[in-house]
Order: sequence, then C-alpha cells, then structure tokens
Amino acid sequence: MKNILITGGAGFIGSHVVRLFVNKYPDYHIFNLDKLTYAGNLENLADVCDKPNYTFVKGDIEDLGFVMELFRKYRFDGVIHLAAESHVDRSIEDPMTFIHTNVLGTVHLLNAAREIWKDSADGKKFYQISTDEVYGALGDTGSFSETTPYNPHSPYSAAKASADHFVRAYHDTYKLPTVISNCSNNYGPNQFPEKLIPLFINNIKNNKPLPVYGKGLNVRDWLYVEDHAEAIDLIFHHAVPGSTYNIGGNNEWKNIDLIKKLIEIMDRKLGRPEGESLKLITYVTDRAGHDFRYAIDASKVKEDLGWMPKVKFDEGFEKTVDWYLANEEWFNHVTSGEYAEYYEKMYGNR
Ligand code: NAD
Ligand code: DAU
Repeated sequence: MKNILITGGAGFIGSHVVRLFVNKYPDYHIFNLDKLTYAGNLENLADVCDKPNYTFVKGDIEDLGFVMELFRKYRFDGVIHLAAESHVDRSIEDPMTFIHTNVLGTVHLLNAAREIWKDSADGKKFYQISTDEVYGALGDTGSFSETTPYNPHSPYSAAKASADHFVRAYHDTYKLPTVISNCSNNYGPNQFPEKLIPLFINNIKNNKPLPVYGKGLNVRDWLYVEDHAEAIDLIFHHAVPGSTYNIGGNNEWKNIDLIKKLIEIMDRKLGRPEGESLKLITYVTDRAGHDFRYAIDASKVKEDLGWMPKVKFDEGFEKTVDWYLANEEWFNHVTSGEYAEYYEKMYGNR
C-alpha cells in the first residue's frame, strides 16, 4: 500500500483527481489534505468519502508544524499538490493571501517531503500542479511551450510562478524528485461559481446580468477537467524527476464567443426562445492587467506519454451545463453565506 497525499482535493480539479485515484488505485491510500476555504467543498467527494482507501484531513498548508507532523505520521510516497488560492480577481483584491498559500504553503510541503525522503527518495514524487498563466500573455499568434520564460502579470500567477521556482530549486539543490505541469483553463462539474463558466450559468439561470470584462475579446484555451485529471495520472506515474509538461485543450475561444455559445445551450435547456438571454450580456470595466490570450503547445505530453484530450468541447460543454442544472442544491450551498457579499464587492460598482 502506498500513501499518496493530494492537497486541495476538496476543490474543483482536486476533487476529480481524488476520485480518479481512489477508484483506479485500490492499492494506494489517498490522503486528501484541504483547509476547506470558501472554494473547498466535501460535497464534491460524496461518492468516494466512504471508500476504505480514502482519508480526508482538514488542515492548512501554511501551518508548518502540522504539515511536518502529517508527513512524519504517514510517510507519503508521493504528493500531488493542488491546494492554492486560484482566482485571479481575488488575487487583485488581496495578494497577501495568495503569497501565504501558494508560495509559503508550497515551500512547507517541499520541506516536509525533503525531510521524510532524506535517506532515500527512490520512487518518490512531488508533483506541483501549476498554470499556463505563469507564462504571461500571448498576442494573436503563438503558443506556450515548456521552455517559454515565466512572465506572470497577476498576483495569482506571480505566486504560482514563485512556487514553481521553489519546486525547481528543490530539485536542483536537494535532488528532490519533483515534476511540474502547467495547464490551461479547466471547465466541468464542481467549479466554484466565481469562475467564468459556472458564474455565467448561474446568472443566466437567474436572469442576472452577465459581466463581460472589457470587450470580451480575450482568449482562453478550455480543457474538460477529467482530461486534466487523466494527464495528472500519467505525469505522476511516468514523468522523469525534474521534468515539466504543458497540458492544454487545443480549444481556444474568445470569451464573447464562448458566452454566446453558453447562452445558446442554456436558452435551449431552459426552454427559452433562442437568443433570449443575449440581452443579459453587460460589458463592464476590464480586469486589471488582464492577460489577452493563452494557448498551450501540448505536443510534449502527447509524444512522451500519449496524452491527448478525449472529451470534445461540444460534448463536454453540454455535459457541464447539464451537471449545474441538475445540481441545484450544490449551487445553493456554495452560493449561500459569503458569496453574496463577494458578488457585491466584485461586481457592485463595475
Ligand atoms: P479551487 O480554488 O477550486 O480549489 C483549491 C482548493 O485548495 C480548495 O479545496 C481549498 O479549500 C484548498 N486550499 C486553499 N488554501 C489552502 C490551504 N492553505 N491549505 C489547504 N488547502 C487549501 O482551485 P482549482 O481551480 O481546483 O485549482 C487547483 C489547482 O490547479 C491550483 O493549484 C491552480 O493553480 C491549478 N490550476 C487551475 C486551473 C483552472 O482552470 N482552474 C488551471 C491550471 C492550474
Ligand atoms: O489558465 C489557467 C487559469 O484559468 C487557472 O490557473 C486559474 O486558476 C483559473 O481561475 C483560470 O483563470 P482565468 O482568469 O482565465 O479564469 P476566469 O474564469 O476567472 O476568467 C476566464 C476569462 O473570462 C478571463 O478572460 C476573464 C473573463 N471573465 C471572468 C469573469 C469571472 C469575464 O469576462 N467576466 C467574469 O465575470
């Protein structure tokens, strides 16, 4: 039995990774370490919480004493690190929280792994889940490769870039067996409705304005979350220590085109006349430092590990909308409490 630590497993991507690993690897014991911030929700894991090879641990990666204790107790064989503050807009409001969680939290985990693996790190792996945003922004053409220099623009991406630098430094200095992957925008079930797609699904459903930043011309490359989880599985098991992989959907959309497609699907599913919800589109002040375009060259992960996205966008997008419409209770839970306050603060005077 191997003990594998997954951090941030109660969040959006983490919950899909935990589910995949718990179901696929009965000979692994999966420990899900999560602080349960506003973005963490154990409802995301209701279907695996009673499995014998799964344990939830509530805790904060910023607490070094707690992290060290946990590593000493369970002697993890591998770490897949997803816990983070993940929303760019929040990072603009409150950069310090991002520095604490994303940088300091990551370094605490690195230190704990270094200590428990100091005699032998054979067969161990510390896997940092990162983002394409560390590479900065592209113009109309080109794509990010694994050798594109880091050039982050938001406090979120600067904190993720800093954490990635520490991960590489621990590999180079202490021979810690680390790997990093940098992925593009994920979509799918269980994403917190501060992010574009679930936020807009919720607003269309409730006939609320759709706040499009700037002119809606920014471009993102969208990947279905289960495809990302499968790439993480392959990289965790097969990537050579010290390596980096880019993961992307090869699926670029201008925000406004994606929003119009979402409206078309939602109006159909809600039985509204075609185009009815277009009137909800509201252009608002642009995000500060808004990166224009991201695009990923994912040829390395395809060539080395045979990974390619499986879920076609049309299919994944419909499935995603269906999930949010069918899971009203989940939506109601995550949008109760602080959500209304957050919404007013972010969009009240835009
Ligand atoms: P999320 O915000 O949905 O989930 C983050 C999780 O981390 C939550 O469960 C939260 O409770 C937990 N967490 C936060 N601070 C913590 C702390 N101090 N200690 C322990 N747990 C803590 O995020 P997500 O969208 O699922 O992203 C997961 C990871 O993947 C992040 O590292 C993010 O940078 C990266 N990533 C995300 C995307 C994307 O499109 N969402 C794309 C590429 C990379
Ligand atoms: O590229 C990977 C990144 O994708 C991850 O590292 C981040 O954790 C994740 O949040 C995501 O970042 P983005 O900033 O691209 O995602 P978001 O959903 O916030 O925004 C997507 C695009 O939509 C972006 O161009 C901003 C725009 N937008 C977003 C919101 C929330 C709007 O126009 N209106 C909005 O209300």
